[in-house]
Amino acid sequence: MRVEAILVPDPGPGEAVVRIQACGVCHTDLHYKQGGINDDFPFLLGHEAAGIVESVGGDVTDVAPGDFVVLNWRAVCGRCRACLRGRPQYCFDTHNARQKMTLLDGTELSPALGIGAFAEKTLVAAGQCTKVDPAVSPAVAGLLGCGVMAGIGAALNTGQVGRGDSVAVIGCGGVGDAAVVGARLAGAAKIIAVDIDDRKLETARTMGATHTVNSRSTDPVEAIRGLTGGFGADVVIEAVGRPETYKQAFYARDLAGTVVLVGVPTPDMRLDLPLIDVFGRGGSLKSSWYGDCLPSRDFPMLVDLHQQGRIDLAAFVTETIGLGDVEKAFARMHEGDVLRSVVEFA
Ligand code: APR
Ligand code: ZN
Ligand code: ZN
Repeated sequence: MRVEAILVPDPGPGEAVVRIQACGVCHTDLHYKQGGINDDFPFLLGHEAAGIVESVGGDVTDVAPGDFVVLNWRAVCGRCRACLRGRPQYCFDTHNARQKMTLLDGTELSPALGIGAFAEKTLVAAGQCTKVDPAVSPAVAGLLGCGVMAGIGAALNTGQVGRGDSVAVIGCGGVGDAAVVGARLAGAAKIIAVDIDDRKLETARTMGATHTVNSRSTDPVEAIRGLTGGFGADVVIEAVGRPETYKQAFYARDLAGTVVLVGVPTPDMRLDLPLIDVFGRGGSLKSSWYGDCLPSRDFPMLVDLHQQGRIDLAAFVTETIGLGDVEKAFARMHEGDVLRSVVEFA
């Protein structure tokens, strides 16, 4: 990681320049740094951000200078097959800025997830700017741009958790805890948090978990069945992204229940399951990419619920840091010390 001067072009057609106020440090930024993502180096990291629109291209009408926005990486096109059949959350032609930000010598930057918000200003497609209530703190709002939205959406949108459901969440980092918050919001009667770290289980309880299981010392499948009358949970959300935990999710779910994979696996991982169990247990096995969110629908709604005190998004902000501290934040993330470190700009 290095802090460098960059050139941000004036916004062209369909583009906006946003003055960043806050940007969370996400696992995906670390994946970029560790070489796990095949975009062209150098990267402009950071993508969980909120800020103020500074200028827009001539034809932009949805946002205007002065608007407080959360940046998203799902600016839907409105024209692809998914959009046209009313499923824009599966849009496969999402928009980013066309122009490139560069280093001073002209080297083009690859902004993380088409955003690049560990920067005082960034250039995005106007559709990547989602207006929300400006009364909310930027550090809190920005988190909706990625991990917190992924977790809440895994419960609400993908898992379709309903009133009275039993829900288990495997892996209680920022994403898993957000799934706990989503399950609680949806009216789940029982929310079982599973992790290998007792500190994470304690936090999950404050987020709304009704039961906790340390899967280092206890078989989580047996424990979840035991807590659900021997059946298994209606919805099990896997928020780690590993084959072992996916298998736990698969067997910890009631017959005809739902498994949601929101943890992101690496390309080398393989899953081995008896096909007869996939058939015999019925139900649905889903994955949740960005919480199946539609930013224009979900970001303002979640900010409103936060402002009303019905969810506490501030609980996800463990610390606020300066731009020069991102490397340290990666280390703390690796140690499991934080849910989110958030870079704040003066
Ligand atoms: N069983 C249960 N929990 C586990 C296991 C395991 N085998 N291995 C790790 N965990 C827990 C960790 O203790 C931690 O609390 O999973 C949690 C992961 O949390 P974070 O590292 O904070 O990651 P988070 O930001 O929540 O993202 C989770 O979703 O977006 C993806 O790339 C991200 O795959 C990652 C996942
Ligand atoms: Zn589309
Ligand atoms: Zn992210």
